[in-house]
Amino acid sequence: MFPFKFLKLGCSGLFVASLGLFYGGSVIAQPSVEKRFEQLDGNRDGKVTPDEFPQAAVFKALDVDGSGGITQEEAKRAALRGRLRSVLGEALGRNNSADDIVPTQPTKSFEAPVRQGPKLLTPGEHGVGRFVADTEFELLDRTTKRIHGEDKSHLTVIAFTSTSCPLSKKYLPTLVDIHSDFKARGVRFVLVNCVATDRPDEMKAALERFTSNVEYTFDKDLKLTNHLGATSTTDVFVLDQSNTVIYHGAIDDQYGFGYSIDTPRYTYLRDALEASLEHRPVLVSATAAPGCLLETRQTATASSEITYHNQISRLLQRHCVECHREGGVGPFALDTYEDAIAHAPMIREVVHRGIMPPWFAAPDKNHTASPWINDRSLSVSEKQQLFAWLDNKMPAGEPKLMAGPGTYSPFTSEYIRLCRFTLINGAWEPVSERGRAAVASTRAARVL
Ligand code: HEC
Repeated sequence: MFPFKFLKLGCSGLFVASLGLFYGGSVIAQPSVEKRFEQLDGNRDGKVTPDEFPQAAVFKALDVDGSGGITQEEAKRAALRGRLRSVLGEALGRNNSADDIVPTQPTKSFEAPVRQGPKLLTPGEHGVGRFVADTEFELLDRTTKRIHGEDKSHLTVIAFTSTSCPLSKKYLPTLVDIHSDFKARGVRFVLVNCVATDRPDEMKAALERFTSNVEYTFDKDLKLTNHLGATSTTDVFVLDQSNTVIYHGAIDDQYGFGYSIDTPRYTYLRDALEASLEHRPVLVSATAAPGCLLETRQTATASSEITYHNQISRLLQRHCVECHREGGVGPFALDTYEDAIAHAPMIREVVHRGIMPPWFAAPDKNHTASPWINDRSLSVSEKQQLFAWLDNKMPAGEPKLMAGPGTYSPFTSEYIRLCRFTLINGAWEPVSERGRAAVASTRAARVL
């Protein structure tokens, strides 16, 4: 299953996947090229013509001799040589299936691509894992509240909303339900209306839909919106007790531009809350959110403001501590300021060279969006943040802002212990029956 192998076999997989999508909507694992060819070749003349296979770009790549028809020989050769990879390279987008690549954006001629749920984003580029500084805001009744709430909620949901944006209106009942299911479990809810022209009486009516304990603020001047970097009027943030973003994105995938489905397939917000309350890692932590788009002007943090306690402890915890801790598989711990300082030159070296965190699946080093849901590599801006802190003589900052305890994938350490890393093909190979089970559980995590 592992990525490297998968990349090598990827081209025939792509062929199959694109034909699979084209045909039935469901992707079949490894049918022979011949079989798919026959299915495509409607009039059985031994050639697949553009009307039989209307995905123009793919067709062009397959029609090696430019004769206007794809022969079975051409299809086989293309699948073997990976011609499709260059065409669909872009389409190596996130897929939720372990063995097959499904282009995230089927070509335009494919019939029902409108029903596209929120796109998964690179968590490190979407604010996930970052500390949110405190700030004040005012409720509809003029009481003042703070992001760093005074009560001891386990989690804080900050949901952007509007009484005029159609998608926000559709999502209001969903938020009411989620609130009523989670409020008793120590989850605090803050609703932020960020549309300056929305009417106070309608906001009050929206607030009254909730049973109780919801903080509703009218962010007329977009202060909070910019502070958090919200992207749309249905965007949601979940903060843990240490005010670290653990989820940023859509509520679920029920509504979007031009589509709605009866029940959501992925309940992102609920899943994030559930996982976090049970001390499990949040699997999908960053998605785009549909809705009326916001023009946010999040002020970039000056590098002198990056300290160990406010940001770097979170970054190391997210990407390193799962192995680098007492009892972990790494050779030393990296979960205190002293540890980080002691290993600073080597941290710079291994991160700069891309050796740590170990991640061999990414096809290209400059990627901004990874196709892997459990990708553990550092994103571009996380690296920048780490290097800025190292360059700035590694200030400690305020200890009270330190990251809370981490939640680690249960399989990681086990997985690494049971698999050996083989340099020859750059993949982790299971060394035993239990290793194979560990590999299977990683796969399950990626499949969702
Ligand atoms: C999946 C587990 C894992 C993760 C995650 C991980 N490491 Fe490591 N790290 C290891 C192991 C195992 C070694 C020992 C490798 C060896 O001995 O060849 C190691 C070694 C190192 C070393 C010593 C390298 C040397 O040659 O002396 C440094 C420094 C390091 N890691 C930093 C980091 C940093 C920084 C992160 C996060 C950005 C990180 N690691 C994430 C498992 C991990």
